[in-house]
Amino acid sequence: LGKEALEEIKQADTVKALDAVRVKYLGKKGPITEVLRGMGKLSAEERPKVGQKANEVREEIQQQLEQKTEELEKIALEEKLQEESIDVTLPGKEVKRGARHPLTAVVEEMEDIFIGLGFSVTEGPEVETDYYNFEALNLPPDHPARDMQDSFYVTPDMLLRTQTSPVQARTMEKFKGKGPVKIVCPGKVYRRDDDDATHSHQFMQMEGLYVDENVRMSDLKGTLEAFVKEYFGPDRTIRLRPSFFPFTEPSVEVDVSCGICGGDGCRICKHSGWIEVLGAGMVHPNVLTYNGFDPEKYSGFAFGMGVERFAMLKYGIDDIRHFYTNDIRFLEQFKRV
Ligand code: PHE
Repeated sequence: LGKEALEEIKQADTVKALDAVRVKYLGKKGPITEVLRGMGKLSAEERPKVGQKANEVREEIQQQLEQKTEELEKIALEEKLQEESIDVTLPGKEVKRGARHPLTAVVEEMEDIFIGLGFSVTEGPEVETDYYNFEALNLPPDHPARDMQDSFYVTPDMLLRTQTSPVQARTMEKFKGKGPVKIVCPGKVYRRDDDDATHSHQFMQMEGLYVDENVRMSDLKGTLEAFVKEYFGPDRTIRLRPSFFPFTEPSVEVDVSCGICGGDGCRICKHSGWIEVLGAGMVHPNVLTYNGFDPEKYSGFAFGMGVERFAMLKYGIDDIRHFYTNDIRFLEQFKRV
């Protein structure tokens, strides 16, 4: 019996096989246990002899098992080390690094500048109610800007926001009639436009709102001028032209001086020396009232800028569609931006 077991131990070439041998000979149902269990039936004379022999055999098997286990483990370890050895002289695999999307980079830069001017950054939903997108901004139900032609309606009174201005209303509501409110809000907006070099059905805006006591038009102009000089460079300046928005009165369109031609006129500024970059104005008293602010006590300014426009002008990008077609050659140029 002992010999048989020792032979099987020798043959076993894996830890698992060895374990099977252990169970077979030394296990609860194995022959040795059986012998030891049957001792009671033996005569007093035979008992010590048989017991001694059985114990000897068991010890021998156990010892051999241990030795073999050690051997096998050593072999396994060596094989593993062999397999895992690394040739440090092989050339490495290139790790492709991504980059911030240029629009993300521009939004973050804009936010930083406005934070420096005392604004905080907030956000609002892209699927918006008709109420916040239009009504709370002084656009009555029959206003042409609510036309189904211009907007993506989800349900009769829900739509993809056409501007970031609803965040003005949402924010004022949250402040419950107590100023100051001083926020910027970047985000995506949607309009039913046909895509071309300068139009996209989805684009980004950065909204600004400042409501407090005694906020004046000169504060708006000063804020925007400081922003433009920081973003484009100290030699740039702005001009305001009268315009109309339902939620501001008076309303202006804001141009930045053309940095390419130095003001003499070129293709970029259509030979005018100026480039339109945003809409703005003093918050309409109706909008203050709708959203819980007393227009006798408070006044404010608001602006909405096209983020793509600012990015295109700064980096000389000639087609808005580049931002959304994910051409890796375009995106890679912004790795250091
Ligand atoms: N929401 C306007 C637009 O999308 C821009 C704007 C914002 C104008 C705030 C005035 C004040 O054209």
